[in-house]
Amino acid sequence: MADTPFVSSTREIPDVSGVPRHVAIIMDGNGRWARKRFMPRVAGHRRGVESVRNVIRTCMERGVTHLTLFAFSSENWRRPAEEVSFLLQLFRRSLLREVERLTVNGIRLRIIGDLSRFEPSLVALIREAERRTCTNERMTLSIAVNYGGRWDIMQAVHGMLKKHPERRDDFTENELSAELALNYGPEPDLFIRTGGEQRVSNFLLWQLAYTELYFTDTLWPDFDEVALDRAIQWYQTRERRFGRTSEQLSTSRRSSVQEGRTLPPVDHA
Ligand code: IPE
Ligand code: IPE
Ligand code: MG
Repeated sequence: MADTPFVSSTREIPDVSGVPRHVAIIMDGNGRWARKRFMPRVAGHRRGVESVRNVIRTCMERGVTHLTLFAFSSENWRRPAEEVSFLLQLFRRSLLREVERLTVNGIRLRIIGDLSRFEPSLVALIREAERRTCTNERMTLSIAVNYGGRWDIMQAVHGMLKKHPERRDDFTENELSAELALNYGPEPDLFIRTGGEQRVSNFLLWQLAYTELYFTDTLWPDFDEVALDRAIQWYQTRERRFGRTSEQLSTSRRSSVQEGRTLPPVDHA
């Protein structure tokens, strides 16, 4: 599982005419989906698992190589105890049930988040699922559980200083991002949040710096392949400038057809 850390995606211009390489999703709206049907909130979570399966399959079919799903935030512990334990049970059961399917489909599973709060048996299950799928190459599926963007940045700082105690005040962005939870893949190209809220809720704070942000009112249990394709089509209309001007992009696009579309690196002040 020793991956080479990716250099920040903001240094290149990804080809938006194709599918995004990395899609990151806040799966929101399960509770409201259930309430609308006079069902308990947990029924929405149960239905949400079907959307997870659908989205994984569709991303794979469309050629997305990295999919990151926000399943449980570091703030979700604030929910009623029964809902928290239902969510963790659902996660445990899905892990057990789905690992075989992931293996068959060539999907590598990674779990990101602070696992220190979980029972050792759950942590062992997570590690085993990651180990069993670690050589798969078709798509990397990262599930964020007990994840918070601030936690991620803090643990990266601690990790960096532990490795290089002498670098207290002169480490670089690249050295820090190499310690972040998603250091094995490109930064997200497309972020999707279902459920109508337009906020990031402590998801990938560092990694979303230049991601295209897509918000939809569709509730997560209703989010199907048509909804995902709509988000991808929207992404394909975007112009990603990373601080440059439109004119610079069209010049470089003309001249970089044979050069892999890479622009000179961005200077960081
Ligand atoms: C998202 O749906 C699932 C989790 C946060 C685990 P919600 O449970 O937040 O659903 P709403 O936002 O209350 O509708
Ligand atoms: C974000 O949803 C977290 C997950 C989907 C796992 P929330 O429903 O917890 O977000 P807020 O509290 O409305 O911002
Ligand atoms: Mg919510």
